[in-house]
Amino acid sequence: VQALSPALAAQIAEARRVTALTGAGMSAESGVPTFRDAQTGLWARYDPAELATPEAFERDPSRVWQWYAWRRELVTRAEPNAGHRALARWARHARVTVVTQNVDGLHQQAGSPEVLELHGNLRRSICSAGCGEQPVGEGEPPPCPRCGAPLRPDVVWFGEMLPEAALNGALAAVEAADIVLSIGTANQVQPAASLPHLARRNGCLVVEVNPEETPLTPEADWSLRGTAAGLLPLLLEAATEQRVQR
Ligand code: APR
Repeated sequence: VQALSPALAAQIAEARRVTALTGAGMSAESGVPTFRDAQTGLWARYDPAELATPEAFERDPSRVWQWYAWRRELVTRAEPNAGHRALARWARHARVTVVTQNVDGLHQQAGSPEVLELHGNLRRSICSAGCGEQPVGEGEPPPCPRCGAPLRPDVVWFGEMLPEAALNGALAAVEAADIVLSIGTANQVQPAASLPHLARRNGCLVVEVNPEETPLTPEADWSLRGTAAGLLPLLLEAATEQRVQR
């Protein structure tokens, strides 16, 4: 098992404010497919332009609705993994804000007290005409109970704006952090991919957890080649290490 360097372990033990930026790789070990992994990634099998844009929904609402219903089924069956649980436990020792691009709700399920969802949550459905969150009735897609317009998944599609409160919260959490973790994200989608660079500019420690290199790798103070479920428990161990009084 890869041990953490003592220098990194000490920095983690001292951190009072941690901001964890998580992507699809965070949930890979929960059996939820990522987007850009070769072969298994969703975008290796489906065309995002056909399924994850407002135009796609306009063109064929039932095809989009059914694809998200399939993904919702996957995530409701999934369990948080050791990585989600380690981040949730870390929050007992420091302030840990999770800023996730994921829409699976697994951080909340694992017990993380602070989760900002930059790309929404596919367990929620909203009225496509703006009535807000709505209960899901019959139909693919079901009509909004208030205005009759089709419901849509409460997720951010390509070309759409991110929820302002979540993005502002994410910027504040990155500005205030002692450590910013980038976990399981290819760092290819804006504006989420800019957050760790903002942390670098503020002189905050940036730690990447990913089995592969990403565009962030050369910028990170530490880039750990491993998985979320494999490495986050080691980071948690360092965070809970009682500092030996020198
Ligand atoms: N642990 C940690 N990282 C992993 C694991 C794992 N077990 N398995 C894969 N990864 C890494 C991959 O190496 C890759 O860098 O997770 C990353 C997943 O990248 P993407 O599939 O592109 O997911 P993400 O970066 O979250 O995508 C961002 O793109 O399609 C949009 O809105 C969608 O939120 C998504 C956004």
